[in-house]
Amino acid sequence: MPSDDDPPVELEARLADQETFEPSAEFVSQANVSDPAIYDEFEQNWPECWERAADLLSWDQEYDTVLDDGDEPFYEWFTGGELNASANCLDRHVEEGRGDELAIQWEGELGDTREFTYEELLGEVEEFAAVLRELGVAEDDVVTLYLPMIPELPIAMLACARIGAPHSVVFAGFSADALATRMNAADSDHLVTCDGYYRRGDALDHKEKADEGLESVDGDTTTVVVDRLGDELEHSLGENQYDYDELLAEQEGASVDPVSRDAEDMLFLMYTSGTTGEPKGVKHTTGGYLSYAAWTSHAVLDVEPDDTYWCAADIGWITGHSYIVYGPLALGTTSVMYEGTPDYPEKDRLWELVEDYGVDIFYTAPTAIRAFMKWGQDYPKEHDLSSLRLLGTVGEPINPRAWKWYYTHVGGEECPIVDTWWQTETGGMMITTLPGIGTMKPGSAGPPLPGIDARIVDSGGDEVEAGDAGYLTVDNPWPGMLRTLYNNDERFLEEYWREYSDPDADEWVYFPEDGAKIDSDGYITILGRVDDVINVSGHRLGTMEIESAIVGTEGVAEAAVVGGDHDLKGEAVYAYVIVEDDYEGSDDLRERIVEGVEEAIGPIARPEEVVFTPELPKTRSGKIMRRLLEDLASGNDLGDTSTLRNPDVVDDIAAQVGDD
Ligand code: WT7
Repeated sequence: MPSDDDPPVELEARLADQETFEPSAEFVSQANVSDPAIYDEFEQNWPECWERAADLLSWDQEYDTVLDDGDEPFYEWFTGGELNASANCLDRHVEEGRGDELAIQWEGELGDTREFTYEELLGEVEEFAAVLRELGVAEDDVVTLYLPMIPELPIAMLACARIGAPHSVVFAGFSADALATRMNAADSDHLVTCDGYYRRGDALDHKEKADEGLESVDGDTTTVVVDRLGDELEHSLGENQYDYDELLAEQEGASVDPVSRDAEDMLFLMYTSGTTGEPKGVKHTTGGYLSYAAWTSHAVLDVEPDDTYWCAADIGWITGHSYIVYGPLALGTTSVMYEGTPDYPEKDRLWELVEDYGVDIFYTAPTAIRAFMKWGQDYPKEHDLSSLRLLGTVGEPINPRAWKWYYTHVGGEECPIVDTWWQTETGGMMITTLPGIGTMKPGSAGPPLPGIDARIVDSGGDEVEAGDAGYLTVDNPWPGMLRTLYNNDERFLEEYWREYSDPDADEWVYFPEDGAKIDSDGYITILGRVDDVINVSGHRLGTMEIESAIVGTEGVAEAAVVGGDHDLKGEAVYAYVIVEDDYEGSDDLRERIVEGVEEAIGPIARPEEVVFTPELPKTRSGKIMRRLLEDLASGNDLGDTSTLRNPDVVDDIAAQVGDD
């Protein structure tokens, strides 16, 4: 740790010019992966190299084929193999005599704690699996889980996996409408939710939101309600609604054998935002996804069974699926779960948890690091963080200053940092340094992982020169990739494969819709989304979804939503709104617009600013100039506006942005 005599400014200055960092010899000597030959091994032995990932799992039936590419781009992995995800995350550790080791270390926002050993977790999962069966959940039925960060969420996920029922987790911060849209899209008749949870010390009513959503769900839903808040919040059960504890008590001691699933059977669905208004149901499978989550947890996060590992994300997003639940539990480590916000009751809450539990590995998002930075170094300094050996970030680009702050004030200049690029669709990490091998370059994620063939190309698909910006593409498939969009193969092809593939030549190229640049040493710097998706605090929001919520507000004629730079959130939502003739751009309308967005999506999509304008800047051909609106929101230079049909409107808008 830096000594107290080091004034912060000098410390920054000392590191300001340092462009590369090396992992310590101590870290390298204990790392799960430390031989650089792994890159060549994977390349020369592709796709069989992926057996290394599959070998981290226990299979009921060995697979025949590593990769079946008979129907590109509908790739299949480890075909012929059979396994169960919950057995891999629980039973085998218990069978190996590790049943009394901690699987989940949970802490509530108010400081209440719950711990589950592998044996205890297995018991709960079996009981809840029996509950689900009793309620009529059959193999392949989609069960929706609308739960906050409480242990019942991973328990329900693993119980679903045990009986072969795919789960679809809906982030608890999403609105009632968002829940209904996702349940309808997945034809899901089963819901697990709860009465409420704590946020900044307040008891939030979650059941009310779930009930409101259920009103718009087609068909009959069976609902299980977890009682998180006890007497703190009264709730009643309606028709077809059951109390979690009561159902569990009826199944006390139940044993439910894990169902053998085909490697390619669906493990879960995860809805994510895309360019159009409808969220995309990303389908992940049992063998490929689980082996990839386990492999990347092993190789990148350096997870070992005796670690206390903490990914401070929400399980409602893919990060939590892969790196709170499936990856770490498959490897038999202790995964820490925290219910609340990082600044409650004080801004040192996370560091207190690191110290109390002796966390070894800590994985979070740049937006959180920027907040820590703003709060100041005294908060981490108050705690003993010497248990940490590795740090990670995910979700958005991290600027070098935030990287160095994290490295210094959290990692004590001793922990390597992995800046991991990936997506809901990729299932797991794709571009990052391996912590026991790679030189770190703050701001640049690093080279593609072994076996991942990422390239930066121009709009024609040709690789760009080192240093130039282009589009990120991935040439080879990998086990953790999405298999399709649920019930929508056509959109799957359209969204990810149309742009750069050449089907006639049998060349299939995955397009993640990110811009990037590559250095001469092969390090990739991610520049951000190139589609109409905004990345707010590491969370993906579709501009179309927000626009349609705004246009649904009475008095609004037209709206354009863009992302603008934001110090803490990375990007924030800016809404440009044209009002109907009989209405005025009033504070009241502004409030109704914000409420409308919160109702349609959730508070995370709340516009930072709502700017009323008589017109939107349009090209002569009538297209909205989104780039210009983004520059206005970010306070950037506007450059040439002469191609606009209505250049005056720009000054008008510029005068308003940042005014209130
Ligand atoms: C988008 C995916 C991966 C889990 C969290 C988000 C951006 C992700 C990084 C990174 C720069 C990043 C990309 C990507 N992104 N990680 N390390 N550096 N950008 O998952 O909601 O599917 O969003 O997040 O733009 O496409 P997601």
